[in-house]
Amino acid sequence: MLGVCYYPEHWPEDWWAADAQCMRELGITYVRIGEFAWSRYEPRRAEFAWGWLDRAMNTLGGAGLKIVLGTPTATPPKWLVDEFPGLTPIDEQGRPRGFGSRRHYTFSSQAYWRESARIVEALAERYGQHAALVGWQTDNEYGCHNTVLSWGAEDLKAFRAWLRRNYQSPERLNEAWGSAFWSMEVRSFDEVALPNLTVTEPNPAARLDYWRFQSEQVAAYDRMQCDIVRRHSPGRWITHNFMGFFNEFDHWQVGDHLDFASWDSYPIGLVERFPFGDAERERWQDTSHPDIAPFHHDLYRGVGRGRFWVMEQQPGPVNWAPWNPAPARGMVRLWTLEAHAHGADVVSYFRWRQASFAQEQMHAGLNLPNSHELSPGGREAAIAANDLARLGELPATAQAQVAIVYDYEAHWITAIQPHGVDFRYPELVFRWYEAIRRLGLDVDFVAPGAPLENYRLVLAPSLPIVSDGAERALVAATGIVAFGPRSGSKTRHFSIPEDLPPGPLQRLLNSRVTEVSSLRPGVKVGISGAICGHAERWREQVETRAETLATFADGAPALIVEDNYLYLACWPNVDALSMFMALLCRKAGLSTIELPGEVRLRRRGDLTFAFNYGETPWRAPFSGQPLLGEPEVVPRNFTIWRS
Ligand code: GAL
Repeated sequence: MLGVCYYPEHWPEDWWAADAQCMRELGITYVRIGEFAWSRYEPRRAEFAWGWLDRAMNTLGGAGLKIVLGTPTATPPKWLVDEFPGLTPIDEQGRPRGFGSRRHYTFSSQAYWRESARIVEALAERYGQHAALVGWQTDNEYGCHNTVLSWGAEDLKAFRAWLRRNYQSPERLNEAWGSAFWSMEVRSFDEVALPNLTVTEPNPAARLDYWRFQSEQVAAYDRMQCDIVRRHSPGRWITHNFMGFFNEFDHWQVGDHLDFASWDSYPIGLVERFPFGDAERERWQDTSHPDIAPFHHDLYRGVGRGRFWVMEQQPGPVNWAPWNPAPARGMVRLWTLEAHAHGADVVSYFRWRQASFAQEQMHAGLNLPNSHELSPGGREAAIAANDLARLGELPATAQAQVAIVYDYEAHWITAIQPHGVDFRYPELVFRWYEAIRRLGLDVDFVAPGAPLENYRLVLAPSLPIVSDGAERALVAATGIVAFGPRSGSKTRHFSIPEDLPPGPLQRLLNSRVTEVSSLRPGVKVGISGAICGHAERWREQVETRAETLATFADGAPALIVEDNYLYLACWPNVDALSMFMALLCRKAGLSTIELPGEVRLRRRGDLTFAFNYGETPWRAPFSGQPLLGEPEVVPRNFTIWRS
């Protein structure tokens, strides 16, 4: 199903009814509104101006649209910021990040929590039972514009309180952080400083705790909003719109109390965000890479415990990347169907009409900025609506056979001490995902500690801290389990495990890691044996009593196996990685198909979808009549068949 993001406050009131009508005609069912409109809800403290929103909701609802209402806390109005200057976030260099755009608040401000609770309550009380209202979005893109970590006085106060709760005594804190090093010991929690602006690298354990603390604040802040909304809006669901390639807080924690997850899919913008080299960036510049959107669909389906929406779908060029090409024709339709293939309930475009003013005037919408004239993306959305109508109700998404363990702390740890500047956890996971999808397989993402029994193959590209829960789940796994470098390499307090890495995984892998080496760009260490290729960026020295399946050029183990557990002691190049995935699939008894770089498959129930991001047709491996598309999958197009 389709939705759209709409800002009635941006348009003359006498356009609203026609807009609503046109949305319906285009095949749109849901409309999200309101998430930035605080200054219009409450122009002055306690003076609410609900009239316009009453009329907007009645107009949209009257046209048969289902409304998703956003809480407006991503944009505190000027009067509020002036009243509580302490809510302003502070950057890592100590500079205030002031009023004039959005997300200008820190999660540490008690005053902002109270004010947020107040506006959310007012909104939920008034509209919680509105006939057209079906659900809520909390805030907007937590952490966008680098706003999870703030570094001000309010943050320090809240951090000290968090440390007190978690460690009880300064002695325990000193012990946990290893503060004997460089005389970093404190005598009381009031002596703890923020882990920024130090002469050289701050204590990594302090830094990790700071990240955990801020991440927990995001989850608690979201929960506070959800509790209020649930009190006033029975029978309506709550979601939050997460982002692409964003790891600054633990999304599993936020997902836990939402009814389902959503994410904002800007496949081309994200090509610019991901650390691709120039060649790949150029190759995917106007289609996106065929795993970027799918990676996030699968991740957020996991975060949403099986359900997700695309709350914002790129409809044309965006405005915020260094370069903003228009999508190749066909891609807006393709992305829409692809999200559904991965289990999305709804794809909602951002936005209905391109704004002609302010920051995002260069960002496309489904309509041109003038009035009711569809943009190229809008015309494709209409075709997608027709496709979805022809498909009818889609079958339920089944559990995949392959799971990837996705760990936000793994990102924090490797970002805090990368050891090699290009050891980037999100990139490593993305490459493993790409390699397994090139073999035609579907993937679920799971949190560390989630049950793994029903997966034939479990991939943990890197899992530095293996918690007790994660260890139990890994021990109980019945399929093949593959670990990547740095797994088991840290304790909860960011130190090296007493018995050396891979710490708690030693008993599964019968091996220890005695040395690690990061490799400059261009340095390659050959790998041969059951997999061939080379290590780049990172390799480890492993002592093992397990079976060695492949060795580095110097004869040291590169890949080992003990029962159903494998450990890959490096960052593999593309060849080694694809051979590794093929080997794992053979061991797991999974049947695979080698896909071209531009083609991907995805199943939803008994439907198989094939997507072609490339420029040459691809013959889909089935006989019979497709439900949609041609047996030869046309470039920038798709084919769907029943299997
Ligand atoms: C998202 C955001 C929207 C809009 C959009 C532009 O990050 O949620 O409000 O800014 O990007 O692409």
